[in-house]
Amino acid sequence: HEDHYNKICEDYNHLMETLPKGNGWRAKHLYNYNGFWISPKYIKANLLLHAYFKPQPTDIFLASFMKSGTTWLKALIFSTLTRHLYSFSAHYLHHHGPQSTFPFLESECENFPITDFTHMSSPRLFATHFPRTLLPESMTSCKFVYICREPKDVLVSKWVFMNKIREKDLPPFSFDEAFDLFCEGVSNYGPFWEHVLSYWRASLESPEKILFLKYEEVKRQSEVVVRRLAAFMGIPFMAEEVEKGVVENIVKLCSFENLSNLEVNKKGVEKFGTVEVENREFFRKGEIGDWRNYLSDEMKQRIDGIIDEKFKGSGLIF
Ligand code: A3P
Repeated sequence: HEDHYNKICEDYNHLMETLPKGNGWRAKHLYNYNGFWISPKYIKANLLLHAYFKPQPTDIFLASFMKSGTTWLKALIFSTLTRHLYSFSAHYLHHHGPQSTFPFLESECENFPITDFTHMSSPRLFATHFPRTLLPESMTSCKFVYICREPKDVLVSKWVFMNKIREKDLPPFSFDEAFDLFCEGVSNYGPFWEHVLSYWRASLESPEKILFLKYEEVKRQSEVVVRRLAAFMGIPFMAEEVEKGVVENIVKLCSFENLSNLEVNKKGVEKFGTVEVENREFFRKGEIGDWRNYLSDEMKQRIDGIIDEKFKGSGLIF
């Protein structure tokens, strides 16, 4: 094991000398690894994931581009899966941030040895921001829920978030700069379009393995989505549960309004490897179309042009 790990470190060091470098949002640089802009520690995590992570056929992954609704889906998936374990008057989510409900794969693979997940009961849940094409082939037989969101809203949400957790010794990061970088594809796990398309294409090929959701549809049709989620995970709601209001209760419990007002999400902190993030940073506005408060007409036209071009012929529309 040690020898194997040392070899991975050598490969990693070599990679880092050769990969194209771009401006970072949180830290100084991102690196283009197999077509995607990734931070150094997560490039290493990706190598360790490929080498050591052993998926089980029953694993369920929540995949997303950052700021597309990961926190919300974590809460929805967790409370749907554990609906027989908690009552809605004394729920786990009343005292724990949604990010804590199941592990973020990248953080768990940052160090050697990677976290041992063998004790987790099945189905095991994991979240990841890696695009489909950066995941080990062995994971592709597992089920994935992918959540995507209108790109202009993602850009705004990401810029605000990254500014909050940006390394303090870096110069300020303007919205203009973020906009240009996002359009060029340079932001963590970007290009956005390639990320979304990697899962979109896979979902067309294997709809039974990948549930492709949009933030906007979760917002507009929360109950329908929760029922689809349950069915997809192999634990559909019984008629009696629906009558008792279980679906409705899950939606209410996980609503922006409810979660963002809980003490734990106002004051609590979540650790991702060495990076600490206050829970409240995961709850900003939770609205559709907030980009209107940030993008000029000219910016809107430029990015919409890119979006049209990139998604042309894919069948995916925002
Ligand atoms: P905004 O910054 O536009 O408000 P992620 O969880 O992938 O990091 O995405 C964060 C975005 O989802 C933020 O968007 C956040 O406010 C929003 N969000 C978090 N919890 C939510 C919820 N329960 N319902 C709707 N949106 C939510």
